[in-house]
Amino acid sequence: MYNYSNEINKNREEKSMKEKIKLQSEALNSKIDSITDTNSYNETNSLLKKILKEFYADMKNLDNDEKKNVGKLINDFKNEMESLLESKKDNTNKPNADTKKVDLSIYNDNIKFGMKHPLIAVYEKMEETLVRMGFEIVQGPEIDLDRNNFEMLNMENDHPARDMQDTFYIEHPDVILRSHTSTVQIRYMETHKPPFKILSPGVVYRVDEIDAQHTPCFYQVEGLVVGEDITFSDLKGTLIAFVKGTFGDEYEVRITPSFYPYTEPSAGIDMSCVICKGKGCKTCRNTGWLRIGGAGMVHPKVFKNVGYPKETVGFAFGFGVNKFPMLYYGIPEMRTLYENDIELWKQIGGE
Ligand code: DAH
Repeated sequence: MYNYSNEINKNREEKSMKEKIKLQSEALNSKIDSITDTNSYNETNSLLKKILKEFYADMKNLDNDEKKNVGKLINDFKNEMESLLESKKDNTNKPNADTKKVDLSIYNDNIKFGMKHPLIAVYEKMEETLVRMGFEIVQGPEIDLDRNNFEMLNMENDHPARDMQDTFYIEHPDVILRSHTSTVQIRYMETHKPPFKILSPGVVYRVDEIDAQHTPCFYQVEGLVVGEDITFSDLKGTLIAFVKGTFGDEYEVRITPSFYPYTEPSAGIDMSCVICKGKGCKTCRNTGWLRIGGAGMVHPKVFKNVGYPKETVGFAFGFGVNKFPMLYYGIPEMRTLYENDIELWKQIGGE
């Protein structure tokens, strides 16, 4: 006997599926209509996938004929929704409604501020004092000619003073890494006429064995003043004003005789020890003084080399910079300055 109730049930299932597809189609249509950005596009796309999954699951209850009918309806629904979604894809190139609301100026508490490298911080203090005294900052290259580093500064090829500053040579025999910032004296004088006061900071290189106080590259600051009636007392006054202006009034300057082939007379510059303030301690070997650089009246031969008239006068000085942050922060090893040890920087005041 034919089972009518079964037939009725099946028809009901098919009808309800058709109804479901129709309802979902209407609902999804209006959702697709309101797509305005990537977020709403993605949301609707996932919703379509979810609905399709449910439809496929419901199909299990249908017999083969019904499966054919309903399957076709589901496919039509799927194709229609996908093509409607596709037409909305252009909108998704626009920024999300949410991102528009991000206020980039809002302060973020989590930002960690850095600090100036101690070497740069100290150098800038030195520079500031000299700029206030009217010095102009001039830069020179770190790779220079043997001529500018030695020859023109009165250190010809076999000059013994070259040994004190042996540097790194590049394959080209006349090209070297500068061993001091005094190279800038030559470069500047060959292209400018006095009077001037220049200051030149930068890195220099020497073939020094690495130890606590030496690294093959370090920082120097060079000064050169050329003009009428410049005397040794101007040099002395400038050095005193520089030391007191940079480090504080309590520091004294001592000038002792020295030798540099490019100055005559030449002087060694000492300042009172920054650790014991001149009383005497381990750092200054109980002398109360620290050697900070060299200076002197520019040698007439140097002026002659750059083509200046015979009566030209001027003074020059050069300081090493690395020593100061080491002393200030009690850093015993010069290498530490180049190691970027964040924990150490935190200890001396940075983040
Ligand atoms: N160039 C010297 C050095 O590197 C320092 C120096 C000494 C610079 C005397 C000068 C100077 O300008 O006049 O040790």
